[in-house]
Amino acid sequence: MFDISHNNLNAINKQTESTKAPVPLSSAKCTYLHPARGICASLIMICSISVAGLAHGHGDVTPQGLDTDGLPEISKDVLSNPFREDAEHGEYYELAAELGKKGYAGNCANCHGIEAMSGGLTPDLRELTEWDDEYYISRVVNGTGGGMPSFKENLDRTAVWAIKTYVESVQ
Ligand code: HEC
Repeated sequence: MFDISHNNLNAINKQTESTKAPVPLSSAKCTYLHPARGICASLIMICSISVAGLAHGHGDVTPQGLDTDGLPEISKDVLSNPFREDAEHGEYYELAAELGKKGYAGNCANCHGIEAMSGGLTPDLRELTEWDDEYYISRVVNGTGGGMPSFKENLDRTAVWAIKTYVESVQ
């Protein structure tokens, strides 16, 4: 059964040449099943393309926006978190944190980490204090030249503060 015929060896050589890369063991095995060889080779190609896509895709995920139904609309001149428990709309704290969790997951987590725990490459948002509210809102709305995108088009102020409320809830 493991009798490697001349033909099969040729096939392995050919494949090595055509892919110009070391053939992993699993693909060498495929050469035993002649009809499947082509499929096997294309699967390997698809795999390497998608791995390259993933490596490239960090942070490129399309922002998801956030539906803030149920929360009061927050205007642009509010510069501190209105949903903080002792703030103007503190009675919405729970709902804001819950919606903010979704907003965070769909817009921020891919760079700032799951549950706001940064892996170290981006600032850890849990370290912001309430004195940083103005800084927070300007960063999220305008972005920075250092890799933080602007969310002006994707998130309204209500959504941005809901996300902050979520981050505070896991602090
Ligand atoms: C594409 C990756 C990426 C996404 C997505 C992203 N950020 Fe950032 N963010 C960064 C980077 C990188 C920095 C550091 C930028 C700098 O120093 O110029 C940063 C900085 C920040 C800062 C300043 C923090 C500090 O301590 O200086 C805040 C606030 C912030 N991000 C909030 C958010 C929020 C909220 C979201 C989701 C709505 C978000 N970010 C989505 C990459 C991202």
